[in-house]
Amino acid sequence: MTARLLDGQALARQIQREITPQVADFTRRQGRPPGLAIVLVGHHPASEVYVRNKLKAGSDVGFRADLERLPESASLADVLALVERLNRSDAHDGILVQSPLPKVLGPDAASRVFDAIAPEKDVDGFTPANVGRMVQGRPALVACTPSGIIELLVREGIPIAGRRACVIGRSDIVGKPMALLLLQRDATVTVCHSKTPDLAGVCREADIVVAAVGRAGLVTKAFVKPGATVVDVGMNTVTDSAVAASLFPEEHPKLARFRERGSVLVGDVHPEVADVAGALTPVPGGVGPLTVTMLMRNTLRAAQARLAGSW
Ligand code: GUN
Repeated sequence: MTARLLDGQALARQIQREITPQVADFTRRQGRPPGLAIVLVGHHPASEVYVRNKLKAGSDVGFRADLERLPESASLADVLALVERLNRSDAHDGILVQSPLPKVLGPDAASRVFDAIAPEKDVDGFTPANVGRMVQGRPALVACTPSGIIELLVREGIPIAGRRACVIGRSDIVGKPMALLLLQRDATVTVCHSKTPDLAGVCREADIVVAAVGRAGLVTKAFVKPGATVVDVGMNTVTDSAVAASLFPEEHPKLARFRERGSVLVGDVHPEVADVAGALTPVPGGVGPLTVTMLMRNTLRAAQARLAGSW
């Protein structure tokens, strides 16, 4: 069997086409576009790329998209003061503080900063208020990667209700909200993590597997029931030739690319899974583009809700 590829890039473009006229409508009525502010502290190389993509997607749909940079030397008080200014700004409907924050800010900096974002502008869906509302199934701004995955499953006609789902990874950003969103759609959900015994056996029970652990090629054929849907959230840069050789057969174009460049981007799902899965998200071009598009949708919703004065 060769899995059907779930094209996140195409769906992201489709959703952007749906959002764009709504943004134009908002702008016409309000005399200003929805505003998104992205806070970037320091110069984390991957964050620079993510933030650039988010700003471009924001401008493409017609938002005001502002980059608010702080230097690596900024203090926690500087970051909190910037968030406070953006909370009060009339021009900004959405605030996103890109993580990771510089380590010098301390281990609890991210939660202190996320906690400071006004829940109605929290387009990442990370604040306790939005997480709590989501847990209770109330209207909320929901974390972008899990809500993008639900959108993909629904629009691709993959049934969720009554199915078994296995989420590998329990992060606040992906694993936990993913499990809750699948549960809300009546899946029977198992959340697996590094201490789960017989991980492969547990996953093999599932009709839907979501892998979000950040370990290249962890999910092999042994984890996947034939015909299951496999969603790969991993974005791992492999630089070790032994690892690359364990992932790709000799004739695979990605192995050739690895030999050319010395690195290759791979997900948490081993390429051999395509032989057993019914449907599979590619890396890149699967979940990543949807995350950015859900950020656009959250920003538009935040703008509309702020205008209406409620959720
Ligand atoms: N860093 C990696 N992914 C994310 C995300 O979705 N939101 C924020 N704020 N930072 C991130």
